[in-house]
Amino acid sequence: MRTVRTVSELRAALAAPRRAGARIGLVPTMGALHGGHLSLIDRARGESDVVVVSLFVNPAQFAAGEDLDAYPRDEARDAALAAGHGADLLFAPPVEEVYPEGFATTIAIAGPLTETLEGARRGPGHFQGVATMVAKLLNMAAPDAAYFGQKDAQQAAVIRRLVSDLDLGVEVVVCPTVRGPDGLALSSRNAYLGPADLVRAVALWRALQAAESAVAAGERDPEAVADLGRAAMAEHDVEPEYLEVVDPQTLAPLEAIEPDAETLVVVAATVGRARLIDNTTVRAPAAVATPATTLSAAPEARCSA
Ligand code: PAF
Repeated sequence: MRTVRTVSELRAALAAPRRAGARIGLVPTMGALHGGHLSLIDRARGESDVVVVSLFVNPAQFAAGEDLDAYPRDEARDAALAAGHGADLLFAPPVEEVYPEGFATTIAIAGPLTETLEGARRGPGHFQGVATMVAKLLNMAAPDAAYFGQKDAQQAAVIRRLVSDLDLGVEVVVCPTVRGPDGLALSSRNAYLGPADLVRAVALWRALQAAESAVAAGERDPEAVADLGRAAMAEHDVEPEYLEVVDPQTLAPLEAIEPDAETLVVVAATVGRARLIDNTTVRAPAAVATPATTLSAAPEARCSA
C-alpha cells in the first residue's frame, strides 16, 4: 500500500488503472480505524480493482467545543490496518491540501434531512462539513463506488441526497453496523469510554433491541416504541439525547409504523466522555387479512328494523 498526501499524487496514482478500466472503490474515514471501517475496506476490496482509503480528520464537521483536538489520531496504526485489509492507496492529506488559503465553498443540504437529530444537536455546520468533505473526496478520487457505515444512518442519507442532487455519478454503498460481543456499535469515539462506561454504553443497543421487539410484536405507535427504548436505557442509568422512530430516507418522525415498511429507530446519548449514536432498521410484520364477517353466523351483528 502506498501513502499519498496531495490531490495530484492521488490522481496520478489512479490515472493508469482508470485508463485500463479498473473499478475504483473509495473508503472515506477520519482514521482511528476499527472493525466497522475494516468491514468497509473488505467490502470495497471484494468489489474493486483499486481500493483507496482516505484518512482525514475533517475540522469543518466539528462544532466549536466538540472533540476535534481530542479525536484519536494514529496514522501508522491505521496504515497497517488498511494495508492488512488489502487497501492499495492511503490518501492522508494535510489540512492545507484540503482547505487551502482562500477556500470559500460550502455545500448545504436544506431541510429536515440535515436539520433534525444530529443536525439539530451538532448545528448546521456539521452536515455542511460532511457534505463538502465527501463531495471533495469524490471529486479528488473520482471512484466508481464509495463505502459508508450504516451506524451513521443520517450521514448515509445525507450523502445519498448529495450524490443524487449533484449528479456525482458514484455508487453509494452503505454497509451494516459492526457490533462488539455485547452489542455496542463500534465507533472511534468508544476510545473515550472507561471500563464502567463501556458497560453502561450497551444501553443504546438494549434500547434498539427493545424497540425491535415491540415492533415485531405488533406495536404501531412510534411513541410507545420509543418509551420502551427509553425504559431499557434507564435500566443502565443512561438518558437518551434523542430516541426517535423515523422514516429511513427522510429522517422525518413517523406518526404511525406502517406494516411491511422499513422503519428506522435512532438513538443518541452521552456516556461518560463519549457522545454515542446508534440505530436499527425494523420492518413491521405485514398486516394479516381478517376474514369477512358472515352475517348469518353473527346474529348480534344484524340490523334491526
Ligand atoms: O464518517 C466519517 O468518518 C466522516 O464523516 C467522513 C465521511 C469521512 C467525512 O469526513
